[in-house]
Amino acid sequence: MSLGKNSANYSKTAKLIHWGFVILFVYGIAKQVDDINQLEDVMFFRFEIIFAIIFFILLIIRFIYMKKTQKTSIPDDTPKLQKIASKFVHNGMYILLAGTVLSGLLIGLLFWLGIKEGYFLDFIVNVHELIINLLYWFIGIHIIAAIYHRLKKDGVWSSMVPFLKEKK
Ligand code: HEM
Ligand code: HEM
Repeated sequence: MSLGKNSANYSKTAKLIHWGFVILFVYGIAKQVDDINQLEDVMFFRFEIIFAIIFFILLIIRFIYMKKTQKTSIPDDTPKLQKIASKFVHNGMYILLAGTVLSGLLIGLLFWLGIKEGYFLDFIVNVHELIINLLYWFIGIHIIAAIYHRLKKDGVWSSMVPFLKEKK
């Protein structure tokens, strides 16, 4: 079987970024805004905005690093449709992660401008929630795909996941 460039491994940096982001994302969900009125609290508001901006900058750094230096571990002889599906889900997660932060920042901007209720704000909040729910679906599919590759023992799982590694 011909294997991809890093079927043996993603770089240490790539793994650190991937798993660091999982932690950052779980934290972001855990501290989510439960009620829009929480944004009235200046300290809370400031923290939320700073967190979102840092998250966005890290996401861009991740995207550039991954696209410039790393390659998927999917074996070359994988069916074309599966390769396309993989790209779609990976890029989709990037778009949805960016969409979550940017729609969140837009809510923040509206709030800061004094638009604290009304049709437009409700609409953006709904978009924010829709994007997050889509993201959950994509992450779910991503994890199922990772498990599928673990069962297939084609090296994809072990190239990124530090536990339950396949034996060589
Ligand atoms: C917040 C949750 C997660 C997100 C947003 C995420 C996102 C991504 C992205 C975008 C990639 C493509 C490489 C890159 O650009 O970094 C990737 C690769 C990968 N992820 Fe995740 N991931 C998450 C959680 C997980 C979990 C929980 C597992 C395993 C149980 C996993 C296993 C993998 C594997 C095996 C690859 C390599 C795929 C390949 O080489 O084509 N990921 N992940
Ligand atoms: C990385 C950044 C962010 C993450 C991960 C995140 C995550 C979430 C999650 C998980 C929800 C609940 C969605 C649902 O119930 O379906 C939510 C709702 C919400 N978020 Fe964010 N968010 C982020 C940034 C922001 C920012 C910067 C703001 C505004 C300053 C914001 C304002 C809101 C509001 C107003 C809601 C709706 C609360 C309600 O149900 O009334 N978010 N966010």
